[in-house]
Amino acid sequence: SQYETLIVEQREGGVTLITLNRPQALNALNSQVLSELIAALEAFDADASQGCAVLTGSAKAFAAGADIKEMQAMDFAAMYGTNHFGGYDRVTATRKPVIAAVAGYALGGGCELAMMCDFILAADTAKFGQPEIKLAVSPGMGGSQRLARAVGKAKAMEMCLTGRMMDAAEAERAGLVSRIVPADDLVEEAVKTAATIAGMAPLAVKANKEMVNAAFETGLTQGVAFERRLFHGLFGTADQKEGMAAFVEKRPGNWTGR
Ligand code: HXC
Repeated sequence: SQYETLIVEQREGGVTLITLNRPQALNALNSQVLSELIAALEAFDADASQGCAVLTGSAKAFAAGADIKEMQAMDFAAMYGTNHFGGYDRVTATRKPVIAAVAGYALGGGCELAMMCDFILAADTAKFGQPEIKLAVSPGMGGSQRLARAVGKAKAMEMCLTGRMMDAAEAERAGLVSRIVPADDLVEEAVKTAATIAGMAPLAVKANKEMVNAAFETGLTQGVAFERRLFHGLFGTADQKEGMAAFVEKRPGNWTGR
């Protein structure tokens, strides 16, 4: 493989499976992981044969955070001057869906990376937390903002201020994850879900992702207007004609991506 810290596989049905692979450091996110992850996501986004990605880690850890050993000696100039972690914005710029499949620890930057994905499927072993405060720092890849939006102020504040972890059941109750699946089935269930998405009309997939994300960036009236314009726009696609004809003719749609 062209990557040292990732395993990238193309599965049947247009699914790209990206596995974080630094087991000796519980998948701690160092700069090599970031640059390889961005390269893998850019390749996925550009490959018309691929419709949905799954990002996962190991049974023990999705990722135990940003790499503490790499950050330890850095000062303000090194962090601010290079906009350290700003590169992760490329993850959320991916236009096709990315599902996080989380087993074990998703801590600090690991929790933040999972929340950058479009939704999180959790194994029953998953543990989420923002323990940065214990290191006398804070979330730095969007955790304070995305966790607050996902689970509300009370839980986000408590987690950021105490560093306590949420288990999978609490994360599901709080709305951080879409579903819990048994750990042994996690990756296959995520790949299956990704294949369902990859089997939809590609322009409709992009539009649905874009409009749900708009809910977190706009007021309601603007968001609804944005949705409606994209919805109207989909009626300019060949796949809309095909999708509705296929329904009427009681057969599966055959998409062209046009
Ligand atoms: C570097 C890490 C690491 C990390 C674990 N390791 N997490 N290395 N950065 N974030 C390394 C350990 O040093 C150790 O290496 C090996 O992985 C195994 O970890 P152990 O601690 O021995 O495992 P265990 O006892 O099972 O404990 C698991 C754990 C613990 C509870 C997850 O590792 C832990 O607390 N990790 C740190 C979690 C954390 O604080 N994350 C936030 C990071 S700050 P050696 O070589 O000793 O065997 C962050 C900043 C975000 O994310 C801000 C912007 C992104």
